Amino acid sequence: MSSQPAVASAYQLPDGEEILIRPIREADLPALEWEGEYRHFRKLYAEHFEAFRAGTTLIYIAESSAGVMIGQVFILLYSRDKEVADGLHRAYLFSFRIKPAYRNQGLGSYMLKFVEDQLLLRGYTTVRLNVAQDNPKARALYERNGYEVIGYSSGVWQYQDDQGVWQTMREPAWKMSKRLR
Ligand SMILES: CC(C)(COP(=O)(O)OP(=O)(O)OC[C@H]1O[C@@H](n2cnc3c(N)ncnc32)[C@H](O)[C@@H]1OP(=O)(O)O)[C@@H](O)C(=O)NCCC(=O)NCCS
Repeated sequence: MSSQPAVASAYQLPDGEEILIRPIREADLPALEWEGEYRHFRKLYAEHFEAFRAGTTLIYIAESSAGVMIGQVFILLYSRDKEVADGLHRAYLFSFRIKPAYRNQGLGSYMLKFVEDQLLLRGYTTVRLNVAQDNPKARALYERNGYEVIGYSSGVWQYQDDQGVWQTMREPAWKMSKRLR
């Protein structure tokens, strides 16, 4: 697979501030930790960044007019689990978040549409994602944007934290899917 084309887009908030959506750069990695809240994912982010370089994962960030990262979204193009992402038609969206001060102004819906367009350009026809069962607002946002629940996931997964300790996450979730065309 090839490396990422340098595609970017801008979204204007209701107050006029312009938000840039662009592919991640290596210098952005510390900001993915959001002032420490997601420091435990440091190794995971570094691995995903390598996958981004290899072209198997897309990572876009949203940047405020002051140049601060205020949002992020990851999309797995290829996974060993073909049901999730098959490197050809099906991709998996995850780690989608926007800083609280920038929510509820249409940016999330815009980013979703932006990444869907990027996937269409690459020939993908289906987006999959998991949304936590205790996150009905996010589920509603996805439903409003054409995603439907296709099943349930116990949401058990493991990762090595920034101290090298294996952690187990349990996030019961709805599996959602959208056909792009
Ligand atoms: C989920 C998330 C990314 C959505 O981002 P967002 O920017 O708030 O999304 P939007 O603004 O497009 O939509 C959110 C709400 O704002 C409303 N909205 C959209 N444009 C608006 C505008 N110009 N003015 C006021 N409200 C607006 C939407 O109608 C929607 O309303 P509702 O959800 O109350 O029905 C964000 O809430 C977030 O980071 N949440 C925490 C992490 C998370 O849950 N991620 C999803 C994991 S699966």
